[in-house]
Formats: sequence, C-alpha cells, structure tokens
Amino acid sequence: MTSNASLLDHATPVALRSNQVQQFQELGYLVLPGFLPQDLVDQIKPEVDRWVDDGLRARSIDSVRNPEKFGVPPVMELELPVHGELITWSPLLGILDQLIGAPYVFHHLHSDRQAPDVPGKPWHHDYEHSTQDDLSATMIHALHYLEGLDAETSSLVVLPRSHRERADKAARAHLNTDSLAGEVVLEELPPGSTVVLHSALFHARRPRSDVSGKPRYFVDASYCEVGRLWPPVKPYWRYMLRRARELNLAPDRPELFAERNFSEYVRPA
Ligand SMILES: [Fe+2]
Repeated sequence: MTSNASLLDHATPVALRSNQVQQFQELGYLVLPGFLPQDLVDQIKPEVDRWVDDGLRARSIDSVRNPEKFGVPPVMELELPVHGELITWSPLLGILDQLIGAPYVFHHLHSDRQAPDVPGKPWHHDYEHSTQDDLSATMIHALHYLEGLDAETSSLVVLPRSHRERADKAARAHLNTDSLAGEVVLEELPPGSTVVLHSALFHARRPRSDVSGKPRYFVDASYCEVGRLWPPVKPYWRYMLRRARELNLAPDRPELFAERNFSEYVRPA
C-alpha cells in the first residue's frame, strides 16, 4: 500500500520538551501545530470524504443508536487504511507514551467533515462517565484538524485546568458555547494540527458569527491508561477491537486493542 511508505517516512519520534509535558499536566491540553505531515493529510482527507459522502458515517451512527436493527457497521473508521494508520502512527503514540507514562488502550475513533453551518457544541468533557469521580487514570483525546482552523471554521475553546475538577460531563452545558473566564480560544491553526486534550478538560466548539464558512475536516481518537476497566462507547466494541487486531494495526503494543481493559457496554439512558 502506497500510504504505508509515506507515513513511515514521517515516523520520526517526537520528543516533547519538559515544559510541554508540564503544560499538559497543569493545563490539560497541548497544541501541536502542523503535527501531521502534508502527505498524511492528503491521503486521509479522501477517506473522510468517502466516510461522509457514502453514508458510512451515518450508518455507523445507526449501529450505535439501534444495534438490534443495524448490527455492526459495514465499515468502521479504523478499517479505512489511512485512518487505521493514523491511530497507531508512531509519532502520535510516542507523544502519548510521554504524556500518559504507562500502557494505554485505544478507546474510539471518530471522523467527520463538518458542514460549514455545523452548530456549536456546548461546553463538555469526554472523560468516561462511570469513572469521572476518580481521575487518577489518564484518558486522552487527540483532536486532528486536517485543514487546521481559521476564520472560516468553528473554533475549539478550552478551559485550562478544568480537567482537575470532579464534574459531570454536562456540568457546563447550560452555558452553551458562551465565553468563560480563563478560556483559551484556538481559532488559527495550520493544516495537520493536533490538539491533545486530557479527556476531562472542558471544551466547546464555537462557530464564528456572520461567516458562511467552509467544511471542517476533523478526526479524533481517544486512548485510556491501562489499570482500570473503561466503559466502551460503541455496542460493537469487541468487533472493533478484533478488527484492529486482525488488521495488525499495532503488533508491538498488546494492550492497545485488548478487550480486558473494558467493562461491559451500557446503553446510554
Ligand atoms: Fe468533545
């Protein structure tokens, strides 16, 4: 596969500076401008287009909302070749190694080409609900903005240090995407930028006002520190992990797609 060669060409380890690790621990996020090489971006974007335009994204949502009717989806994000390579891309895993400092398991992958008029997403965090009273194990979301962020896209807004709160995911939802004291607005990022969030950090997607906008290519993947059982987010989580193992996405990391790190799936109320 041609994509393998080009991605491996860019698989140089990235050593974080000590102040970057400290920033992540204290503030709960780390911005990596232009982290993804352009050829990776160029290869994954057509997969995102296919995911959206062929109805595969909608179909995967059907499989989450109504698993009895739809069963497993015909294609999952990680089965798209470059998406599969991205979630185990060695520079990314190297950064997670430095930030988590322990083995971790893959949790889920989402991919979308958000419409220009995509509404805002209110303040929330994404740390898995059944463990939110105990944040001792790290969960991380890697947010990949394939074309970056600019004046024609929604912004990512984060609330530094909020990952240390003991708060429900929706504790600030009533504030919609309103400005909060102490927030940081990420509104200009070059193509291929990645924002690494501690999953308990409050964040929001804030649309630009009075701007017609353009599509926003967004891929996010999350990873959980091994050592407790994590709640799966998809009813077909065992199938997802099995396919990742069958595709041999991470032969040197036995925990990354191991079922033993998860509790049983519970359908949201
Ligand atoms: Fe989120």
